[in-house]
Amino acid sequence: MNRVLAAVLISGGGSNMDALLGAAADPDYPADIRLVISNRPEAGGLAKARSRGIEAVAIDHRPFGANREAFEAALQELLAARGIGFIALAGFMRILTPGFVGLWRGRMINIHPSLLPRFKGLDTHARALAAGAKEHGCTVHWVTPELDGGAIIAQARVPVMPDDDARTLAARVLAEENSLYPMALAGAVRSLAAAAP
Ligand code: GAR
Repeated sequence: MNRVLAAVLISGGGSNMDALLGAAADPDYPADIRLVISNRPEAGGLAKARSRGIEAVAIDHRPFGANREAFEAALQELLAARGIGFIALAGFMRILTPGFVGLWRGRMINIHPSLLPRFKGLDTHARALAAGAKEHGCTVHWVTPELDGGAIIAQARVPVMPDDDARTLAARVLAEENSLYPMALAGAVRSLAAAAP
């Protein structure tokens, strides 16, 4: 099977990116991750990717100001130049326009730190605690124009402990994210290959 060339988009520490790169180091993994892009030059994930020998590029969103389309055009130019066919968002904290999402529809997935459809958006762990949730977790889903609203690919659940705060709960969820995402990306890519004519 030909491996799809994939990129991971990050904004921060990149533990999910690192888990994906670790899985993709296996030549039998269906995605060949060739590129990491961060919208934040200070993202710790960039150095982690480089230490694995993966090209890691910062495209700072700030000089583009409110012009999301111009920022995304820069992203798209690099993705196209590298022949990327699939995107995994991994802690990428910029909202993407419907135009960019449309370009990548069916070829872009995201990991979100809640059991969707509960707790879309930000501060999911604090909100789960405030809601008295007994169970929390993470979701890998297809990216559509509706924020955190695309079809679910996979989820992992964790219990909420009585003494949890947002930090302890986030750490428990993140550990699950790091194992779920490599499996979910592989499943998503294989489902595309199976559907191809
Ligand atoms: C993860 O918890 C991920 O689910 C979340 O950011 C964290 C990134 O951690 N993403 C979102 O909240 C997207 N809306 P990482 O940089 O260690 O992978």
